[in-house]
Amino acid sequence: MAENIYPIYDKMMTRQEKESLLGQRGVMVWFTGLSGSGKSTVAMGVERELHARGILCRILDGDNIRAGINNNLGFTAEDRMENIRRIAEIGKLFVQTGIVTLACFVSPTEDVRTLARTIIGEDDFKEVFISTPIEECERRDVKGLYARARRGEVKNFTGISAPFEAPKNPALTVDTSKLTLEESVKMVVKLIEQIKN
Ligand code: ADX
Repeated sequence: MAENIYPIYDKMMTRQEKESLLGQRGVMVWFTGLSGSGKSTVAMGVERELHARGILCRILDGDNIRAGINNNLGFTAEDRMENIRRIAEIGKLFVQTGIVTLACFVSPTEDVRTLARTIIGEDDFKEVFISTPIEECERRDVKGLYARARRGEVKNFTGISAPFEAPKNPALTVDTSKLTLEESVKMVVKLIEQIKN
């Protein structure tokens, strides 16, 4: 563990002070689901809707984070764990600044999601399962990755050659193959509205 390190969190201004400045409560809305399931699309709709209502949000997205701070990580189970660990630590900073934080990561296994939940804290962690079936994700194949994974050109591809474990007890499940984008966004906004101050 960290030696010769003396965090000074207790001397900084508090989360409560940040939240009362913003007039909102910080929370982590954690989207999990297959690649192409619609996590980022729904999160962007939620961000737009909440922003219009005067609520400050921040989206953390897999491809963006992996192009920057996590550009040294791949898709082995070990690297996915480190990916999620860093994201959860960063996300926690946003939550503790009072920001509604929308995390869009495949986060395919119980153990990576448990790690995120543990770092962020149970009270601040709302899991949203974007449950769009793989057939629909593969039909969309927005990034062409399913086709490449089927040809064996992308290794450890979630749903094809790497596991996806559906969350056991999500706060909300949204299947974007059955709902319009507007309906999906509305469900998540409602979940966020229900969070007590
Ligand atoms: S996670 O499993 O570690 O949570 P993350 O959400 O950061 O994954 O990144 C997933 C994105 O990376 C996908 O949307 C897809 O665009 C891309 N990607 C590239 N290779 C893979 C792979 N082997 N498995 C899953 N996603 C991949």
